[in-house]
Amino acid sequence: MFEIIKSAQPDPILGLTENFNLDKRLNKINLSVGVYQDSQGQTPTFDSVRKAEGLLLQKDSSKSYKPIIGDEEFGLLVKDLVLGKIITKERKNTAKSIHTPGGTGALRVVMDYFSKFHPNSVFWISKPSWPNHQQIISAADLNFNEYSYFNSENNQLNFNGMINDLSNIKSGDVVLLHGCCHNPTGIDLNLSQWEDISDLLLDKKAIPLIDFAYQGFGNGLNEDSEGLRKIVQKIPESIVCSSFSKNFGLYSERVGALTILGSDEHLLQNVLSQIKVCIRSNYSNPPSHGGDIVKLILSDSNLRKEWEKELNQIRDRMKNMRDELTEKLQKLGSKKDFSFIKSQRGMFSISGLDKRQVKELREKYAIYIVDSGRINIAGINSNNIDRLSESIVSVIS
Ligand code: LMR
Repeated sequence: MFEIIKSAQPDPILGLTENFNLDKRLNKINLSVGVYQDSQGQTPTFDSVRKAEGLLLQKDSSKSYKPIIGDEEFGLLVKDLVLGKIITKERKNTAKSIHTPGGTGALRVVMDYFSKFHPNSVFWISKPSWPNHQQIISAADLNFNEYSYFNSENNQLNFNGMINDLSNIKSGDVVLLHGCCHNPTGIDLNLSQWEDISDLLLDKKAIPLIDFAYQGFGNGLNEDSEGLRKIVQKIPESIVCSSFSKNFGLYSERVGALTILGSDEHLLQNVLSQIKVCIRSNYSNPPSHGGDIVKLILSDSNLRKEWEKELNQIRDRMKNMRDELTEKLQKLGSKKDFSFIKSQRGMFSISGLDKRQVKELREKYAIYIVDSGRINIAGINSNNIDRLSESIVSVIS
């Protein structure tokens, strides 16, 4: 049977890290996968996470199964984190957050649900977007379309293009938006643009699906949710997929959440009951450790304070690296203007480097960035920034 199988292409992001790990050059730099690295190039476990793990070890905890949707308390804490106190209160019975294995797990559950109940809904994704979005939608036999988002001429948002393209959506279509720190461009909508998008989706009777993988990496935990909160306040039915890989550094624990908002309690319960069936036939129930860590940190005021402080430090370091990289490239007389890097937010920026330049960076300088030209800003530190800037200037000259 296996004789007919042809090899698949390596994953455009995770496949690169496999190559990076095989690269024997000592000065190699990995700016591909979206994993935070500190000023020493390490991906540390947060202190707050280590403390929470210590406390969990001391507790006589059981390894029995979690409920299909995870712990009730986890859900309540996450709902509050994502939607904020006011909306959480307003939507006491019409919104629910459940524990999923990572943000990817949440997205896949959503797609399985749509595939079963709304197979004709078209998913609209930004051009460009995280490459796995297309893959997850297609894996559930659903269709997608792209909407304009990025103007590569000036490295800015193409909002008119976005609105024009989204004017073609049909009732029941799903529009996938990035809650903050757009991956891969680092360009977010401002509040008035979020407002315009909410009006359009409401008018078209489309469903917003918000991928929220970087809460706290842009401007702050609440600030980063402002756009999303506008949308869910205006549109009765919406979906949010959160990841805690980056903002808790819990990448390998696979912890995330799916938040579903319905127009009334009864309808929400019906949808949730079907979501449970989708989960049961996929991974059955979520892994406990990561969820328990998040639950403990969010519910313990000291741990929470410490976590927020650590998150602020990460955000500040990324902002500093954005400023430094922009300055260095300018000082080296780069013939390309990189000032846009400074104004973008989160882990990523699209550098504007083309395929040949990306290849040269990898082959000649052992610097790994994604083929689309996406750079992970969090992989830059004071030990590699000079070599990185010089190499970029060299490949574009
Ligand atoms: C990324 O975009 O690099 C991250 O979200 C990691 C991943 O799973 O692709």
